[in-house]
Amino acid sequence: MSANEAAALINSGDQIGMSGFTGSGYPKAVPLELAHRIAEATFRGQKFQVSVFTGASTGPELDGALAMAGGIHLRLPYQSDPETRKRINAGEMEYMDVHLSHVAQFVEYGFLGKLNVALIEVTAVLEDGRVVPSSSIGNNRTWIDEADRIILEVNSWQPTALEGMHDIYKVKAPPNREPIPLLRTGQRIGSPYLTVPPEKVVAVVLTDAPDRNSAFKAPDEGSKRIAGHILEFLSWEVKKGRMPENLLPLQSGVGNIANAVLFGLEEGPFEGLTSYTEVIQDGMVRLLKSGKLTCASATAFSLSPAMMDEVNANMSFYRDKIVLRPQDISNNPGVIRRLGVIAMNAMIEADIYGNVNSTHVMGSRIQNGIGGSGDFARNGYLSIFMAPSLAQKGAISTIVPMVSHVDHTEHDVQVLVTENGLADLRGLSPRQRAHLIIEKCANPDYKGALLDYLNRAERLSYGKHTPHLLTESLGWHNRYLRTGSMRVREEI
Ligand code: COA
Repeated sequence: MSANEAAALINSGDQIGMSGFTGSGYPKAVPLELAHRIAEATFRGQKFQVSVFTGASTGPELDGALAMAGGIHLRLPYQSDPETRKRINAGEMEYMDVHLSHVAQFVEYGFLGKLNVALIEVTAVLEDGRVVPSSSIGNNRTWIDEADRIILEVNSWQPTALEGMHDIYKVKAPPNREPIPLLRTGQRIGSPYLTVPPEKVVAVVLTDAPDRNSAFKAPDEGSKRIAGHILEFLSWEVKKGRMPENLLPLQSGVGNIANAVLFGLEEGPFEGLTSYTEVIQDGMVRLLKSGKLTCASATAFSLSPAMMDEVNANMSFYRDKIVLRPQDISNNPGVIRRLGVIAMNAMIEADIYGNVNSTHVMGSRIQNGIGGSGDFARNGYLSIFMAPSLAQKGAISTIVPMVSHVDHTEHDVQVLVTENGLADLRGLSPRQRAHLIIEKCANPDYKGALLDYLNRAERLSYGKHTPHLLTESLGWHNRYLRTGSMRVREEI
């Protein structure tokens, strides 16, 4: 049926599980028509809102259109759309930031209430009713299993060669959960197809529209230096015998810095690499192409248009090397711990004790969400966080006395990296960590002020284990909010 007719099957108040992960594999036609219906209802003075659960971020036809129409009551678990971000931060939309590995089980356990509709983009529907997933899996299996009604968008833009690349595996709920039999990154343990109960399908809509693939910025000087520090550190770990020569499976987070690290690995000494990660970015494909990376496991693609063309044209080469899994498997804490994943994620800020904020600017304004960073950071063999030492043209230091929001505690962070250097925090007490982080990671412009804070805290703090001056610890953020800069002199 048409997207318009399918959208008419969605009611105000419905909770909808939609496909989509980092701009790939999201439904592109029905959400737009739903946004039109919502706008019309609003025009008539009627309230029409739905709750939208996805895998992760989507595209303008979904998040953008529905947010613009004021049509989202609750959004979870990760978003990066400017309009959605604006509405959340204006207090006009509820948003729940959830570890990506938790989402499927929260819905299956009934923690989030009834899922009314599953709206899923697929590549093809086979004659026996099985479905070929598209460029992301995310939580699609769970949405299909849990929702009362299913709407499928069959997108002919998605390459049919995707068939065979997926590995759908279902974990049972406790007390019947069993070990996930995954021992190697590239191993397949499930089926390449999603199984859809035909009696629940209320609409099938045909589309032909591209994913939201955006070009990556070429790595800048700072990102290259961060990548350099990480490569040097990994070489040292191999030398010390703490890691095999082909390292351990790599997880690389979203964003330009994470991608720069992958570019760095291309020129680095390591061979026979593997990856157990969340998204396949350009850098990952380049490593596969050059043969440095032998296989990559993820839940979604997130490629630039040029790289998407390259992958589409050579899908049979990549199909053997890439496995796309449901996100409760790609981000599964047990599997991540078992495989010994090296977690590398970008951050907004870190404090001198190693606590990390990945999500909230000035402690209150959400940027995107925690995504899978917590799944990987807590459970990885090594957890590395990275950022440029300055943000907003130097008005902000990303190393601060106390983070304004905590996503990853000091217990989940082993290594911090900025373009200035790398702080290996393993085996250090909080005060030792603080001195090392300031020495290695802080920007020279802010080093003196950080040391001054630490020295005074070491003398005057109530306790001397993790010294803090509570009247000052968030003073840097306050100063930025008052003056537009964390620098002391600009306040005078
Ligand atoms: N204070 C204020 N703003 C900050 C900041 C800070 N300390 N650090 C970064 N920012 C701003 C940047 O200025 C930029 O703003 P702009 O878009 O208005 O220019 C924005 O945040 C993005 O920063 P950028 O330097 O471009 O980094 P990025 O694209 O690598 O993204 C994160 C960094 C942390 C936002 C991103 O990695 C993220 O969302 N992480 C959380 C989820 C995650 O780790 N997922 C991976 C798990 S698999």
